[in-house]
This record gives sequence, structure tokens and C-alpha cells, in this order.
Amino acid sequence: MVALHWNYEELPWDRIDHSKVDPDLVPLIKAAALVEFNADDYTAYLCNVFHDDPEFQDVAKGWAVEEVQHGRALGKWAELVDPTFNFDRAVQRFRDGYKVPIDLNASVRGSRSGEMIARCMVETGTSSYYAAIGDSTDEPVLKLICKNIAADELRHFKIFYTYTKKYLELEQLNKFQRLKVALSRIGESEDDELAYAYFAANAPEGEDYVHKTYNQAYMRRAYGRYKAKHIDRAVAMVFKACGLKPHTRFCTLASRGAWWLVESRARRLAKAA
Ligand SMILES: [Fe+2]
Ligand SMILES: [Fe+2]
Repeated sequence: MVALHWNYEELPWDRIDHSKVDPDLVPLIKAAALVEFNADDYTAYLCNVFHDDPEFQDVAKGWAVEEVQHGRALGKWAELVDPTFNFDRAVQRFRDGYKVPIDLNASVRGSRSGEMIARCMVETGTSSYYAAIGDSTDEPVLKLICKNIAADELRHFKIFYTYTKKYLELEQLNKFQRLKVALSRIGESEDDELAYAYFAANAPEGEDYVHKTYNQAYMRRAYGRYKAKHIDRAVAMVFKACGLKPHTRFCTLASRGAWWLVESRARRLAKAA
């Protein structure tokens, strides 16, 4: 049994302030709910990859329970602010069209420490994403949900980082190899998963999925939420996972570069819309 740090059923749901709901944020929350709720598929994959590490398998199962709760909390919030949204139906639509490759028995990252670094990147991304969303909204219940989730994601990062170190002792990836895995996972953030979740959660019934359309719809709403401080923190986490020193000149430079990329992508997407 996993001890959760908070319980979505006990959140102050009756305190949602409908006058403070940002309509541009609602589609993002619906999409995020679907991705979070799908964590069980990743556990199955992780349990295959780490088939001889029962300790980590237990950790992965506990992790998934928390991620699934993130999905439930976000899904419930979305249903309460938009009564036309049906979370269960959206989950089904997402699962019908998007499949995590769970039947593999070796990591798609080429090594087990690579797999752990990729997991660290996902948690880096989610913790900064929910911090950015929480900071960008004045709706009190969503703000609280984002605060709880961001704290969970940071804990997840620490867990996967602990196992990164364990597997690095066995596999000895150098910093360059670690950085390569990290950057390739970051580069995948505009692949199908988020775009398809955005489609499944928001597109009218009967509509066809077009990656570019839904990826842009998602990213246009997401990129603009970030402030420089969220990117600084994310870059420091990437550095840590790759064995590079955070809080150095190199890290500051990388941070500025990343912020420039995020800002210019946000501008381009806004213009395209
Ligand atoms: Fe999560
Ligand atoms: Fe997480």
C-alpha cells in the first residue's frame, strides 16, 4: 500500500472559483489528466526493463499510484469547470489511439541508467510544467492541485535520480552519454503523446488526428506559461541528472539558451495561430 502525500478526494472542490478559470488553460489540464492517468502502462514497461530488480519494481508501482492520482485530480477539476467534459470517455479515446510500447524487455534508451535518466527528464519536465501552470493561474483549487503535483514530481525526480546513481555504478555512462539520453528525451516532448492527449481530450467527436495541428494547439498554450525561473530550475535538474555541476557559469549559459528557445518557440506558435 502506497502512502500518498495528499488525497485528491479531500481537496476543497467546493471552493473552485469559476470566475477565475482561464479558458485557455482548461484544454491543457484535460490533456495533462490523460497522460498522467496512463502511468500504469509505464510501470508495466519499467517492470519489464528492470525485471530482476524487485525493489525498484515496488518503487515504480508506488510512483504510478501517485501519477494516476494526478490524472484523477486534474480530470475532476476539468469536469467541474467544464460539465461537457467526460474524463472516463476521454481516457478511453486516448487509449484507443495511443499505446505505450509496454511489451519490450530492454530499455528503449539503450541502457538501464539511460532509462533512469530519461525518467529524471520526464519528472524535470512535469515538475516545472505544473509549477509554471500553478503560477499562471489565480483559480485557487487548480493552484493547490498544481502545487501538490509539482511537489510529487520533484520527489519522483529524486527517486529516479537515486536509481540513476545505482545503475551508473554498474554501467558507467560518461557525462556526454548521459547528456545525449537527456536531450533526446527532452526532444521527444513534441512527439505524439501530448499532442494525441490534447486531441483525445478536446477535439470534437469524428474529427481526425493531425499531429501538427494538435501539437501546435497544445504547445502554443503551454510554452507561454513558463517564466525564466521555471526554466532555470529545470536546467539545473537536467545538469544534476547528467552529472554536471548546477550553479556554474556553464549552467547559467545553458539556462539562458533554454529560455531563449522557449520564448522564441512561444512567439512563433502565437504568431502561427
Ligand atoms: Fe505526474
Ligand atoms: Fe511524476
